[in-house]
Amino acid sequence: MIWDPDQLREKIIQTILDANDLPHLPETVFRIMRLTAQESTPAMAVAQVILQSPTLTAKVLRYANSPLCGFRQEITSVQQAVVLLGFGAIRDLVLGLALINLYDASRMPGLNYHRFLEFSFQCAAAAHLIASKMGLDTEEVFIGGLLHDIGTLLLGQYQPQALASVFEDVRTTGDSITQVEKRILGLDHTLVGALLAARWRLPRMFIDVIRHHHELNVEAIADPTAGRIVPIIGLADVIVRLFRRQRRQDLEAVMNLWYRFFRQFDDEIESILTRFPSHVANFSFTFETRVNPVDSYEDVAANAA
Ligand SMILES: [Fe+2]
Ligand SMILES: [Fe+2]
Repeated sequence: MIWDPDQLREKIIQTILDANDLPHLPETVFRIMRLTAQESTPAMAVAQVILQSPTLTAKVLRYANSPLCGFRQEITSVQQAVVLLGFGAIRDLVLGLALINLYDASRMPGLNYHRFLEFSFQCAAAAHLIASKMGLDTEEVFIGGLLHDIGTLLLGQYQPQALASVFEDVRTTGDSITQVEKRILGLDHTLVGALLAARWRLPRMFIDVIRHHHELNVEAIADPTAGRIVPIIGLADVIVRLFRRQRRQDLEAVMNLWYRFFRQFDDEIESILTRFPSHVANFSFTFETRVNPVDSYEDVAANAA
């Protein structure tokens, strides 16, 4: 089938602007976003919203007590978790849990949703690990990893056949996904994702991360936090690809990106790659996902040599 990219672009944008059946986040997420945006909100008010959902309560406590947070004392109340983690981290955690549920529940003919969840989740875990090595805010980087390809999810929902031919075209031509998307759909998943994030009223930083995650042209990004996160997501993406395909060119891509953006951290990349499998396992355990374990870096490096 031949599509007219100009018509398709208009149609996709209209669908996103009008649709009532867009993927949606639970109301709790928006309430938490509103409350945590104001510093004057008492921690108890945030805790109360979380406490209304037993699942959310359990997951927040599970996260606060996981090795990912590294607190020494046991955290037994949600309010204590809110105080110790801080508003930003709590917002990101609640958003992250909602996204994982959303991905897990989505059924799209044009996309293998489990694979999509797995890819986003592993990318988020890798990004979290890189950010922790650099002493940056790990929770928002984790969310950036989970969110960055959300446009693909939407395309899979509304244009499954066109998306399938995008994937096919990428395989046969070797062109980049955004090039092929623009050729066939008239726009790419970064624009679609950014439109959805704007409709969800997510913080500006996340919109910028979604919009710019393929160009890695950091200077062009308006939001300074997004500018710091984008290269991390770019690197996380190639790390996930390396562990999946275990090819030499993927290992080279990881090293190239590393030296381009993170040269000053020198040999930290070895420890990031070595710790990546256990980091994914930690996250899967903490968030109770069905994400498969990844091979050890020793095996990956041997296969990619
Ligand atoms: Fe992408
Ligand atoms: Fe990606």
